[in-house]
Amino acid sequence: PRPLLPLLSLAGLKGSVGPKGAMGNKGDMGTPGDPGLNGHKGDQGEQGVCNCTDGEHGSDGSPGEMGPKGEKGDTGARGVEGPIGPKGDEGMMGHMGPPGPCSPTIRSAFSASINESFPKQNEPVPFPDVFYNLQGNFDPIMGIYTAPINGTYVFSFNLAVYQRPLRVGLFHNFYPVVKSTDSAQQSTVSQTIVLHLTSMDKVWLQVKDGTTNGMYSSYESSSTFSGYLLYPDSCGMPMLRDLGESNKGEKGVYSWNGP
Ligand SMILES: *[C@@H]1O[C@H](CO)[C@@H](O)[C@H](O)[C@H]1NC(C)=O
Ligand SMILES: *[C@@H]1O[C@H](CO)[C@@H](O)[C@H](O)[C@H]1NC(C)=O
Ligand SMILES: *[C@@H]1O[C@H](CO)[C@@H](O)[C@H](O)[C@H]1NC(C)=O
Repeated sequence: PRPLLPLLSLAGLKGSVGPKGAMGNKGDMGTPGDPGLNGHKGDQGEQGVCNCTDGEHGSDGSPGEMGPKGEKGDTGARGVEGPIGPKGDEGMMGHMGPPGPCSPTIRSAFSASINESFPKQNEPVPFPDVFYNLQGNFDPIMGIYTAPINGTYVFSFNLAVYQRPLRVGLFHNFYPVVKSTDSAQQSTVSQTIVLHLTSMDKVWLQVKDGTTNGMYSSYESSSTFSGYLLYPDSCGMPMLRDLGESNKGEKGVYSWNGP
């Protein structure tokens, strides 16, 4: 603080500026300054090289690139059969097949023998002892077979000949188709013939006359007449009404040579 001057003394004029003083002594060393800020981060150094061979086991490397596709291998052995799969869907309906073979329900057969020797002339020979005549197409008393249907038929006869000659014919609709002759010696006469008949056609056996009717029957000799439908012309069934009427033979007088 500025010193208090006595109020009585008058103040002189202000003196001129004195000479420059000698340079003062060097001052004491100052106190250390505050630490500076951190410097910038330096550049990354070069990567080091290491030819180490005895280092610790390193971690697994990354997988390499995929190699080229290898050659096709051999076919393997057949595997075990798998389980049965589920049932498939039902297929579409196929085309209609060709017609099947004819299986007709019509049948006809007979077999019978005479029970009296030396049958009458000019009429069919009766064969009263019937072995088989299930369909009834043969009239054993009249001795006439009536065809039930158009078709192919087989007829046969095996006749014992004794005491008189036998001259016999197989008649088809009033005319002899085949004729057989044998002498009076003990023998047999036989024929087998295939005929095509139309429905209602009639077939029978007939002897020529009263001297050549040596057809014989005894306990030890049978004379038989047989026939059957081999096969019909078609699978069609005959009309039953016609069949019923056709089974009745007609008693008539028939000449050896036909009407
Ligand atoms: C590493 O090995 C190579 C080849 O053997 C050699 O040239 C190189 O000088 C070696 N480097 C160091 C750092 O040992
Ligand atoms: C042969 O059969 C017919 C018809 O059944 C019969 O009338 C006749 O008496 C029989 N004849 C003999 C010898 O048995
Ligand atoms: C049987 O044959 C006759 C003569 O050939 C013919 O007129 C008739 O139509 C035939 N019947 C059948 C059912 O074929």
